[in-house]
Amino acid sequence: MPNTISGFSKLTKSEKIEWLLNTYFTDKDNARTLVQRYWNTDHKLQKLHDEFIENTITNYYLPLGVAPNFLINETTYAIPMAIEESSVVAAASKAAKFWLDRGGFKAEVISTEKIGQVHFIYKGDFNNLEAFFNHIKPKLISDTASITKSMERRGGGILDIELRNKSEDLPHYYQLHATFETLDAMGANFINTCLEQFASTFKNEALQFAGFTNEEKDISIIMSILSNYVPQCLVRAEVSCAIEDLKSKDIPNPEDFAQKFKQAVNIAEIEPYRAVTHNKGIMNGIDAVVLATGNDFRAVEAGVHAYAAKDGSYSSLTHCSIANGIFKFWIEIPLALGTVGGLTNLHPLVKFSLEMLQKPNAKELMKIVAVAGLAQNFGALKSLTTTGIQEGHMKMHLMNILNQFAATDKEKLTLVEHFKTNVVTHNAVVEAIEEIRR
Ligand code: MEV
Repeated sequence: MPNTISGFSKLTKSEKIEWLLNTYFTDKDNARTLVQRYWNTDHKLQKLHDEFIENTITNYYLPLGVAPNFLINETTYAIPMAIEESSVVAAASKAAKFWLDRGGFKAEVISTEKIGQVHFIYKGDFNNLEAFFNHIKPKLISDTASITKSMERRGGGILDIELRNKSEDLPHYYQLHATFETLDAMGANFINTCLEQFASTFKNEALQFAGFTNEEKDISIIMSILSNYVPQCLVRAEVSCAIEDLKSKDIPNPEDFAQKFKQAVNIAEIEPYRAVTHNKGIMNGIDAVVLATGNDFRAVEAGVHAYAAKDGSYSSLTHCSIANGIFKFWIEIPLALGTVGGLTNLHPLVKFSLEMLQKPNAKELMKIVAVAGLAQNFGALKSLTTTGIQEGHMKMHLMNILNQFAATDKEKLTLVEHFKTNVVTHNAVVEAIEEIRR
């Protein structure tokens, strides 16, 4: 096959780059310069990044921005956000400021359980399997003692293991469904190590179990893995104020605003096409903080979207009520986050972000992240139901368009000033650039 290679991972970094340049690039010098320009001159720092993954050739930058003025349960935070989308940090900052003057955000962690499963195939009588499970359950736990020791010392560990019969959905399919408390660690490695030990104990002990027939002893373990669906690791964040207190420069008629805003949330609650975009906006805030704090945004995304569909139809993650003159807006989401382990101790900017957040524990980080999602959704719905999204969006996108046209600093100053009072569209910006260059 053309353009394939074996042993790529064994090549040095330079050899990998040369192979790529020779195989896929026309202007090799330009591509090589680019890749090298993104290397860090601090060799130790570069090596650290090289070793996060396999086959690293360079670094891929995202901006790290900050949204200050987030008042959460009486503490004020500046929230770090790693994201490329131009309007996200600005919208978060604006929402933070808006609610700073109205009592801030309230957030609470509802639960912190995480889930892992051993999936297996068993061909036999369920009563015998149940008897075996009850017999072996204490050993499943005691065999993990060396793995769970330090987690237990800190107050976490295995909470329970259940046998689940799934054979009506898939022939002969059963699970060990385990719940864990992993405290300040996201816990993926801890959970997966425990699960693999459960699987090994379960399979080996089945061979000795007198209550099984010979066929029943042959349990086939399919896989052991944590679940990124964590509906029992829940956090709730909320804002509320008297309707008249919503009045501001952008909200001249707070009663109308509140009603329209609530309608927008209600639409996302019942209409999946809207709910997906609505939740995408929430994830703009959530992912940016999750990424800045070195957490696994894919895990968070997968778990949050599954939660959005938990009642059988994909729905809004936020909700709104208007009662007795009070406007209330809240989010409830599952978030499995860590503030120790993983990248948190390794990536210098993750450490920096966590320090900016006053070194939160996992529960505090859950609250901060949920607030970032709620604030982002507030900002989006406020724009959507008043000016429309493009006004703010294009204002923030202006710099991207100017950079596409290699605008000089002087041109940028002139054009930013010009577009303070003119509608930003791609064409309008291009015309304005052409005009001042003429
Ligand atoms: C864009 O990244 C996010 C929004 O589309 C979210 C929304 O529509 O609610 C503005």
